[in-house]
Amino acid sequence: MNRTIIISNRLPLQITIDDQKLDVTPSVGGLATGLKSFHRDGDSVWIGWSGLTKEEIPDNLLPEVEKKAREEACIAVNFTAEEIDGFYYGFSNRSIWPLFHYFMEFTEWDADKWEIYKSVNQKYADVVIENYREGDNIWVHDYQLLLVPQMIRDKEPNASIGFFNHIPFPSYEVFRTVPWREEILKGMLGANLIGFHTFDYERHFLSSVSRILRHQVQFNEVSLPDRIIKVDSFPMGIDYDKFEQAALKHREVTAGKESELQRRLNHHRQKSPDSKLILSIDRLDYTKGIANRIRAFEYFLEKYPEYIENIRLVMLAVPSRSNVPQYQLLKREIDELVGRINGKFATVNWIPIWYFYRSMPFENLIDLYTSCNIALITPIRDGMNLVAKEYIATRTDQTGVLILSEMAGAFHEMNEALIINPNDFEQIANAIQQAIKMPKEEQVRRNTILQKRLKRYSVEKWADDFMTALERTREIKPAFKAKRISEDVENKILKRFQDTRNRIFFLDYDGTLVNFVDKPENARPDPELLELITTLTKLKKTKVVLISGRDKETLGTWWQDVPVELIAEHGVWVRKTGKEWQLNENVHNDWMENVRPVIETFCDRTPGTFIEEKNYSLAWHYRKADPELGEIRANELSNVLKELISNHGLSVLEGNKVLEIKSSGVNKGKAAGKLLLKRNFEFIFAIGDDWTDEVLFKELPNSAITVKVGLKKTVANFFVNETSQVRSLLNKFIEADRNKEKPIEKKA
Ligand code: ADP
Ligand code: G6P
Repeated sequence: MNRTIIISNRLPLQITIDDQKLDVTPSVGGLATGLKSFHRDGDSVWIGWSGLTKEEIPDNLLPEVEKKAREEACIAVNFTAEEIDGFYYGFSNRSIWPLFHYFMEFTEWDADKWEIYKSVNQKYADVVIENYREGDNIWVHDYQLLLVPQMIRDKEPNASIGFFNHIPFPSYEVFRTVPWREEILKGMLGANLIGFHTFDYERHFLSSVSRILRHQVQFNEVSLPDRIIKVDSFPMGIDYDKFEQAALKHREVTAGKESELQRRLNHHRQKSPDSKLILSIDRLDYTKGIANRIRAFEYFLEKYPEYIENIRLVMLAVPSRSNVPQYQLLKREIDELVGRINGKFATVNWIPIWYFYRSMPFENLIDLYTSCNIALITPIRDGMNLVAKEYIATRTDQTGVLILSEMAGAFHEMNEALIINPNDFEQIANAIQQAIKMPKEEQVRRNTILQKRLKRYSVEKWADDFMTALERTREIKPAFKAKRISEDVENKILKRFQDTRNRIFFLDYDGTLVNFVDKPENARPDPELLELITTLTKLKKTKVVLISGRDKETLGTWWQDVPVELIAEHGVWVRKTGKEWQLNENVHNDWMENVRPVIETFCDRTPGTFIEEKNYSLAWHYRKADPELGEIRANELSNVLKELISNHGLSVLEGNKVLEIKSSGVNKGKAAGKLLLKRNFEFIFAIGDDWTDEVLFKELPNSAITVKVGLKKTVANFFVNETSQVRSLLNKFIEADRNKEKPIEKKA
């Protein structure tokens, strides 16, 4: 596999400086602890923040900071205190973090902090570019770096970029409150592959993409004009062997060699062999439900007083993001709660809660995991929660009971745990009692299944699956034969154009010459377009036909002074240059009275949709409707209409977010065919963006140059991404005609 550039805000190591001396400690948090083994075992370089601000690093120590990072194949990026304040303590942890965890009341929107977030994301992207070598896979992590994928893509359009979000992605209803929601989604969509822990986060993301950016989403793929992005769920695992081995080693530690913490835990056990230890480990974060957990424990002691003196909650809270006010308030709340409950229930021999507020070395973590009979993990909302998995992995004799919140991503894979709703104290209290009473055989049975699963889907497997899926995106090709017009192909087309007489252009209007807008009447041609088409029509031996589904009145008014031939309503009407409109087909419109009321009922039930009435057809537009509802109703309406109009010589045409009912046998292909019968054209060019243009492409001779606008299924030979490229191509024809004498050459 190719080299991987990992990029996350936090490096797996944290550097601090005390009295001109560097101290390096491992980082806490699921992302760093989880990815560490992938980094250790593979060919990768990891870019991230050293944990220090620029002001904290004296000039003479900067080389040493860089060296310490390099020793672990890391590149340390340092930021000023102002940047860290705006980016890390600011937008990342006062806006995105609370919102994505559904703590809307904690979410702050500050335009200055957003600006700093953007500039720090750009700095990260620049460091990636500096270190990028062709063929590398780039793996961007988490909510602090949502804009980085697109920033990298802007400089390295062909790079293979994966993005993994380690926290929940909220529902569209919540995400849409972000003032900069479009930028954030576009930033993420710079990746080729976007990963989430669970399918729920994935579907929330896809729903936001389709509703906010209106991109086409099919199953788990997002189609952009020029790329397809894959979105999938990959539940992160743990370094199972590391925890299992550490626990096995821990068993071998002889008396007198154990840690101080272990000695205290042993002492507790020896004093009352039947008593139980409940473990609680998290970063001190409001998403973790620590306060609720303590209150639920209080409720348990009230409900089951027989356990007083026979149970203890061992609570480890790791300091985190302590510059953010909510974290400071939470710290105070927990201190008070622990104090109050210990005061309320303590006896001379016993206190109910042992509370540690600090980070601990790995060995102590293992002491806790292996010594506690029950793990109580009750987040209000958590992307995954690795602590739950680590607890199970260390239970080498398969005893122990995990009580787990259904709001943690890990819940989906850990159904054999006792699952609780973190807001239901009654349920938590009962689960604690059930855990205390659970027979050993049942514990072993549940944990055996859990262990097997966690061992199989370890963090190595997780990373491997993600990287394999990323590698595979290199092969994603659009599911059709059209090719992008390369410079070489373009030159060949222009050369053919120069060399031929009798040339014809079929140009679709909406979505081809102009972009779609909210209301059809607002898509009037701009002066630049009018001039472009006028110039094109003036080229010798060149016929230009605007072929559209629009009604003749609108087209006629908009193109009144331009000597272009117009075909309206998909071929019902023709206006030859300088002539009046003529009916091109034998059509009737007496059916409209019956069909209109049916469509109106769909308009009433589908907000954002409306009817466009033409002379011989009715169109139902649903571009502005909710995308999912729009598709459902379009399907429904199409079926209803097909039934209604059968045997009436009518058909339902499915365009780009529009359904049109019109006389059968009227289509752009037939209209163009009639024109081509009258004269022999040596050069035929057709361009269009939707289904109605496909009929045109099919009808044209093989020698025609057919071009689709947008990356969609097509029978056309070529595609361009967007309307601006259509205009630029047409300008090149004009240019080529002017320089007829100059042969087209490949530019250097
Ligand atoms: P989050 O990523 O939100 O912090 P997780 O439960 O997914 O939550 O990950 C926490 C990680 O931090 C785990 O891998 C755990 O082992 C580690 N960790 C938690 N507490 C400590 C601690 N006191 N000392 C060292 N590592 C810790
Ligand atoms: C969670 C986030 C990580 C973050 C970690 C620790 O796991 O998903 O991105 O690194 O918490 O938080 P911190 O703010 O200390 O980096």
